Amino acid sequence: MTVPRHFALIPAAGVGARMGAEYPKQYLALAGKPMLRHVADTFAAAQVIDHTFIVVSPDDAYVAEAMADAPYTGSGARVSILYCGGATRRDSVLNGLRTIREQVGDADWVLVHDAARPGLVVGLIDRLVHALRDDPVGGLLAIPVVDTLKRADDYGRVQATVERRGLWAAQTPQMFRYALLRRALEQSGQVTDEAGAIEALGFQPKLVEGNPRNFKLTLPHDIVQAELYLKESND
Ligand code: CTP
Ligand code: MG
Repeated sequence: MTVPRHFALIPAAGVGARMGAEYPKQYLALAGKPMLRHVADTFAAAQVIDHTFIVVSPDDAYVAEAMADAPYTGSGARVSILYCGGATRRDSVLNGLRTIREQVGDADWVLVHDAARPGLVVGLIDRLVHALRDDPVGGLLAIPVVDTLKRADDYGRVQATVERRGLWAAQTPQMFRYALLRRALEQSGQVTDEAGAIEALGFQPKLVEGNPRNFKLTLPHDIVQAELYLKESND
């Protein structure tokens, strides 16, 4: 049996509607470089990752500039850009998987990571890969929920307190073998993450503890927090 390789697939074809910036949030400058560059630099620096594919929209007008001075693109590249994004995150990931078919084996691992999570560090990638090395299913980074959770009614009043025990908030990367992940996404409806598609096939992805710094930037006020974390980790 050959040793499985590890590929990263970064969906970066969203428009960032909730961020409300003039261009997609993955290109916003954070601590001196575009959000997407933080993510690409981290994967390029991770020894365990054989190659990284970034999925952007077919009419993307920003990625070339954002990646222009990256030392790991061009010949012998560790990172490449695929202009095959779709209407939803799931479509972008599935289009990416179809596009890389010739380069990836069925048993190779694919780590899917949001471009909107620039707080990922190499140590977390290593932790995930190590935890899933012999796993039959795969899994994801996630963090145990610490807040007390309330379910709201239609009028913004508490309907119930939700039992917190055993609840985790999903992050990315989410790591599954190529063939299983592709089959799961082909068969799924509009799931919001890869694990959801795998679960729909009856499998139970493994939860591996992530880090709050690996949060997803969604709203304008997330920028300040992210810059604080990114500047700290540069020091
Ligand atoms: N994404 C994608 N293709 C889409 C939609 C989203 O590749 N059609 C990517 C985003 O670029 C992001 C990740 O999926 O890296 C997570 O999505 P989200 O945070 O929802 O980003 P957007 O969809 O861009 O933001 P919004 O929902 O506010 O428009
Ligand atoms: Mg979205």
